[in-house]
Amino acid sequence: MTTHAAAPAPAAPATTPAPAAAVTTTTAAAPLLRPFRIPDDGLHEGPRVLRRLPEGVAERPYELFGVVPQAATIGAEIRGLDLSRPLTGAVREELNRALLEWKVLFFRGQHLAPDVQRAFARNWGELETNPLLASAGPADVVRFDRSAVRTFENVWHTDVTFRERPAMGAVLQLREVPPRGGDTMWADMAAAYDNLPAEVRERIDGARAVHDFLPGFARFTAPERLAEHQEAFPPVEHPVVRRHPETGRRMLFVNTSFTTHISGFAQEESDRLLRLLFQQAHVPEYQVRWRWQAGDIAFWDNRATQHYAVGDYGSERRVAERVAIAGDRPF
Ligand SMILES: [Fe+2]
Repeated sequence: MTTHAAAPAPAAPATTPAPAAAVTTTTAAAPLLRPFRIPDDGLHEGPRVLRRLPEGVAERPYELFGVVPQAATIGAEIRGLDLSRPLTGAVREELNRALLEWKVLFFRGQHLAPDVQRAFARNWGELETNPLLASAGPADVVRFDRSAVRTFENVWHTDVTFRERPAMGAVLQLREVPPRGGDTMWADMAAAYDNLPAEVRERIDGARAVHDFLPGFARFTAPERLAEHQEAFPPVEHPVVRRHPETGRRMLFVNTSFTTHISGFAQEESDRLLRLLFQQAHVPEYQVRWRWQAGDIAFWDNRATQHYAVGDYGSERRVAERVAIAGDRPF
C-alpha cells in the first residue's frame, strides 16, 4: 500500500526494488485535510504522448491511394485500391509505408477469394501455418467460425508470440458479419511503450519474457493433440521491449495470451509488472476499433500491435478468414 499525503513518502530502503507499478505522488494543493492513497496498479489521467511516426521521420503524403485515419496513431482506411488485382511495386511500397505509419490498414468491401487474399499477403513474405487453429481449405488460411470450432479471441494479444519467429503481420477478411457487434480492436504498442513511466521503462529495459501457447490455447486444444503441440512449440523468450525491424521504434512486446513470466524476476514481481504492462493495451488513446462489413479486409503489423475480437454477438454468425505472414526473430 502506498499512502500519499502532503509530505513526500520516505524513500524506500536501497535494498528494496522500487515497486513495478510505482505511483507518482500526487501534488495536491494545500491544505490537504486527509491523506489519500491510489492503488499501486492504478492508472492515471494526464496527457498522452501520441506519436505516429518514429522520431525524426517527417509526415509524407500518399500519392497512389487515399488514407483516411481512424484514430490518433493507429488505423487508417485505404481507399481507391482493388486488392483483387496484383499490386504494382510502387503501390506495395506505399502500402508498406502506410502500414508502418498506421499499423493497421482497412479496406472496405474487397470480397477476396482465399487464393487472392493469400496472394495479397504474399507481397510481404511467406505465409505461416498455424496447427493450433482450424483452416479453411488451404492450410495457411485460418477460419474463425464459432459455429464450427469454439474459439475466442476476446483477450488482448499479439498473434503467435509463442513462436520463435512470431508472424510479421496478418490479413483478415470478414466473410459473414453479425447484425451488430463483432468488431475488432487494435492497440498501438509503440504508444504503449512511449507512455510508460520512466521507472517502469528502466525496470524492463533489457528484460526478456517467456511466451508459451498454453495459457491462450490449452483450453481450445484437443487433449490428444496437446502433447504433440507442446513438443512442437516449447516456451520461447522474447525481449519485453522489442525494436521494430523497419522503423527502429521500441514497442512493448508482452501479451495476456502468451506471456507467462519475466525471466529472472521473482514470480510475484513478474506477475505484478506483467499485470501493469498488459493493462497498457487497454488504454483507449492507443486503440482503434473497426466495425466490419462483409468483405472488409484488415491488414495489421503484428510486430507493433495487439488486438481484441469483441465477443458481443452471442449466437449470431460471424465468419472470418485470416492469413498470417511469417516474421523475424524479435530483438
Ligand atoms: Fe489474434
